[in-house]
Amino acid sequence: MRRKIVAGNWKMNGSKDLSEKLVGYVRGEAGSLDNGVEVVIIPPALYVGDVLAQARGAVSVGVQNVGQWQSGAYTGEISPEMAKDAGCHYVLVGHSERRQLFGETDELVAEKVSLVIASGLTAIVCVGETLAERDSGEAESVVADQVRKGLVAVEQAEDAGKAWKRIVVAYEPVWAIGTGKTATAEDAQAMHASIRSVLKDMGAPAEEISLLYGGSVKADNAAALFSEPDIDGGLIGGASLVAEDFVSICRYVPAST
Ligand code: 13P
Repeated sequence: MRRKIVAGNWKMNGSKDLSEKLVGYVRGEAGSLDNGVEVVIIPPALYVGDVLAQARGAVSVGVQNVGQWQSGAYTGEISPEMAKDAGCHYVLVGHSERRQLFGETDELVAEKVSLVIASGLTAIVCVGETLAERDSGEAESVVADQVRKGLVAVEQAEDAGKAWKRIVVAYEPVWAIGTGKTATAEDAQAMHASIRSVLKDMGAPAEEISLLYGGSVKADNAAALFSEPDIDGGLIGGASLVAEDFVSICRYVPAST
C-alpha cells in the first residue's frame, strides 16, 4: 500500500515563532487525523531544529535542498548526512525554483538523489513542465524525461529494490506554482498515471511509490485532487504557512481502503 503524504514546503518563509505556533498546532491536530496521512513540514534549514522540537515525532520534517557532496569545503551548503543527523527524514530535490533560479539540471538532481538515498533519507523529487511546454503538447514527454534522468541512479543502484523505497515523486506544473492556477484533477491524474508508467518502465515497484501533486493546492481544491487514484497526497507551498488551511488540506486525503 502506498504512503499518503501531505508535505508543507515553506520555501524562504517562516520564523522561530511560526515554527513554534504552526507546528505545535499541526502536532495537536495530527492525532485526530484518522486517514493515515503522513504530515511533513519542510522549513528553511535554519528552523529544522525548532520545527523538530515541536513536531515530537507526530509530524515528519525535511529540508528543501542539499548540496551534492557529503562534507568538505563547500561554504553555505548542507549535506544529506547533516539533514539526517539533525533528525530529518525527507529532502526535496529538484524543486522548479531550484531548477529555474539556481540552474539545477537533471544531472545535478540525479547526483543529489543518489546521495540522499545513500544516507537513508527519502528524496521527494520534483518534476513539472512550464506553460510553454504544456501549450506545445510536450508536458508528458518533458516530465517523463525529468523522471528518467533524475532517477537514473536509483534505477542503476546495486540494491534498486531498497533504493526505490526512498523515492517519492512530486508533480508540480511550473505554471501552477504560486499562481492560484491549479491543474484540473483530471489533468493531474493523467500526468500521475504517465509518471507511474515511466517508473514501471524503469523497473521500479511503481504501484508502491507515492506521487504527490503540488501547485496552488488549497483547502477548496484538495479533495478533488486527492480523490484521484494516482494522486497520493500533496506538496503545499503558500497554504502550508497557515496552520488551519494546512490541516484542512491534510484532512482531505481519503482514508486508504
Ligand atoms: P504553492 O502551493 O504556493 O503554489 O507552491 C507549491 C510548491 O511549489 C510546493 O513545493
